[in-house]
Amino acid sequence: MLRILCLVSCALLMPSMADPGALLKLGMEFMNKAVKDAMTESQILEKMAAMASQKQAGVKSIKSMTDMKVKEVTPPIITLDFLPGVGIFQCVSTRITITGKSFMGGTMEIIVVVNITATNRLQQDEATGLPMFQSEGCQIVLVSVKTNLPSKMLPKVVNKFLDSTLKKVLPGMMCPAIDTVLEYVNQKWTHLMDPMPVGEAGSIKYILTGTPTTTASYIEVDFSPVVQREEGDTIALPEDGAAITAPEDYPDGSSQLVLSAAFFTAEFTLLQKYFDVDIKGKTIGKLPPHTTKTLSRFVPRVGKAYRKSLPLMTQIRISKPPKDIMKPGKSQLHLHGTIEMFAIPPKSGPSSMFVLEIRFSLDIQYSLSEDKVHMVTSMNKLLDLSVVSSSIRPFKEKKLKIFLTSLLQEAYVPVINGALEVGFPLPDFLGTKYGQSELAIVENALVVDLRTS
Ligand SMILES: *[C@@H]1O[C@H](CO)[C@@H](O)[C@H](O)[C@H]1NC(C)=O
Repeated sequence: MLRILCLVSCALLMPSMADPGALLKLGMEFMNKAVKDAMTESQILEKMAAMASQKQAGVKSIKSMTDMKVKEVTPPIITLDFLPGVGIFQCVSTRITITGKSFMGGTMEIIVVVNITATNRLQQDEATGLPMFQSEGCQIVLVSVKTNLPSKMLPKVVNKFLDSTLKKVLPGMMCPAIDTVLEYVNQKWTHLMDPMPVGEAGSIKYILTGTPTTTASYIEVDFSPVVQREEGDTIALPEDGAAITAPEDYPDGSSQLVLSAAFFTAEFTLLQKYFDVDIKGKTIGKLPPHTTKTLSRFVPRVGKAYRKSLPLMTQIRISKPPKDIMKPGKSQLHLHGTIEMFAIPPKSGPSSMFVLEIRFSLDIQYSLSEDKVHMVTSMNKLLDLSVVSSSIRPFKEKKLKIFLTSLLQEAYVPVINGALEVGFPLPDFLGTKYGQSELAIVENALVVDLRTS
């Protein structure tokens, strides 16, 4: 009751948490692999075997047995279970073979199967803010004991041995092994919240919103990502499009990383300065020449202002933060700014003809490398166009739609794609490589289906 009261009041005391900008849903396949990798890397089995064969203080040997030693510790079977609200229940089942010489001269063997169980509580480390497992309640359960001792002396001798020796020695030997494995798992979160560069523009950090939560089938880690410019200021995630939840339509045991459209919007905003482009030069792909003559076909006033065909310069300035919009199966980058067109006379500087306010959308294709999400865009649609000012007298801007759409596709989009080549870094945790993962776009979010291979 007391605990429940605390949970309620403590929750009330905490600041209200914002919607996560990104979240990780870690299923059992992923946690199994993380623990298995940690076992291998910590070389815990080798260490356990070495420890087991050392002389243990306070260990009495069996009266009728000499030269006792641990011959073998078999590779353990590890089973994990989620404990809702707590963390992971871990059971390590292993077989230990102890040999010795019997007083009659023969070799004796005792084979014990033990289960080491512990609760790995999932917490948020107070000092670092990182997720952290901490084991508690480590217990040794003797599952079975077999010997080649004559059966009539078996119960007495073995029971005595088990009581005085194994039950005393095993916890001290096995429980630190669980802790060691967890230390390895914990270490693999170390870089999770480190700032990761987005080219020269700035960096992003995956900061935890609080203690990760454990349900009956997964662990959820919520992030409020920090997108920071090189100059130091932070770009806030827009409020709309931030509501994301753990995806439910994936198989049990699977794991996903969910990145909100709001988070992408902030990341694109970080790159906004690269979205201002000056288009110069006469030849642009397969387009008609970038000249006043070509333009005059759409805006006759241009032909009247410039009798002789002059080269053009088109200046695109993105004045509002870009916006990433995600709907199931598709994602678009919405850009809002101005287009100013100049004629460039041979002997004087560029002369401005008109300024248009423009809104347009680019389709975004996403792909993954080992540690980043990459984007390639293509022209989708010119959404809105209006004249802000004109030095060649008023004209009908609608006629420019086709001209500008193809100019954006041929000359602007390649520059944007060049700027996007830096990619957006993905969270670095538990040795995850994203190259083999699959992507899906859902309402307001991109879902990365993590593969454990
Ligand atoms: C010991 O662990 C194994 C493997 O996880 C399990 O099948 C068995 O039921 C456990 N036995 C006891 C007595 O806990």
